[in-house]
Amino acid sequence: MILTEGKTIAVIGATGRQGGQVVRQLLQQGWRVRALTRKPESQKALALKSSGAEIRKADLEDPASLEAAFENAYGVYNMQASVPGKIEIEIRQGRNAAEAAKKTGVRHVVYGSAGPGQTKTGIEQWDAKLEVTRAMNAMGLPLTTLRPMAFMELMTDPSYYPQSSTWYIWPKLMGTNIQIPWISVQDLGAVAAKAFANPEDFIGRDLPLAADAQSLAQFREIYKEVKGKYPSRFPMPQFLLEKFMGKDIPNMWRWLRTHPVSLDTSQTYEVHPGAMSVRTWLQHLNS
Ligand SMILES: NC(=O)c1ccc[n+]([C@@H]2O[C@H](COP(=O)([O-])OP(=O)(O)OC[C@H]3O[C@@H](n4cnc5c(N)ncnc54)[C@H](OP(=O)(O)O)[C@@H]3O)[C@@H](O)[C@H]2O)c1
Repeated sequence: MILTEGKTIAVIGATGRQGGQVVRQLLQQGWRVRALTRKPESQKALALKSSGAEIRKADLEDPASLEAAFENAYGVYNMQASVPGKIEIEIRQGRNAAEAAKKTGVRHVVYGSAGPGQTKTGIEQWDAKLEVTRAMNAMGLPLTTLRPMAFMELMTDPSYYPQSSTWYIWPKLMGTNIQIPWISVQDLGAVAAKAFANPEDFIGRDLPLAADAQSLAQFREIYKEVKGKYPSRFPMPQFLLEKFMGKDIPNMWRWLRTHPVSLDTSQTYEVHPGAMSVRTWLQHLNS
């Protein structure tokens, strides 16, 4: 375990779901946090500032801004938002961040990956992450890869359109009875913070993140038991939903129907015994 005091972690995606949780957990543990954003005056950036983070303007398309933002940082949380139909953008931005980390001599990169890992699937946002991981390994970066499959937030976060996606179209694409591994972004943030604090246990690891394995039908029943009613559904034709979010995510749910994935939660609980099951997460939601 290392001393966090006085050390800085630069967090890409700090104004987003996973990055926001990474910032929160790091601040709680005494790190200095440099929160990267293209929009330092946004509400989310200002909220991060009042919680104690330093805000730094940086763009994943602008390598010089990344190098400036990583200067004297101990670690970097690297993630990219995927752009539907444009896998090359995510790969380029991931490489830009990796090269800047290499040039500035960052001591630990924790990478927000996704998916089943290892081999290509044809799902763009998973395949892009394999490329970025490969590039970071080729550069010899001190790397920890965190590999969640599905965020529990898919069930409730309005920006995922859950009424039409998770509760209406995904069951048609994947079926309701196939179990998949779930993790909350809060627990992703907690594991990232543990990784930075314990480099000797984490560098070199590719860690699948899974706190619970549930099918959509099981998740729906747990939701009813906890919230007292089923989550609402809003019927929408698939082509219309794809106008909002592209085809990659529907392709992912279709892929999951025919490709069994690991449901092993042991590695996550080994590093983070407090990880929340679906039921616990729902109980804590908005409480
Ligand atoms: N949904 C799931 O179940 C799931 C599961 C596993 C993995 N994932 C992966 O999670 C990732 C998305 O993470 P998220 O949900 O946390 O993202 P998000 O909430 O959509 O936030 C995106 C973040 O990326 C930043 N960003 C976007 N373009 C940028 C650029 N050019 N330069 C600098 N920053 C940029 C944004 O910052 P500003 O706008 O402030 O600049 C924002 O903080 C995707 O790669 C996806 O594959 C998702």
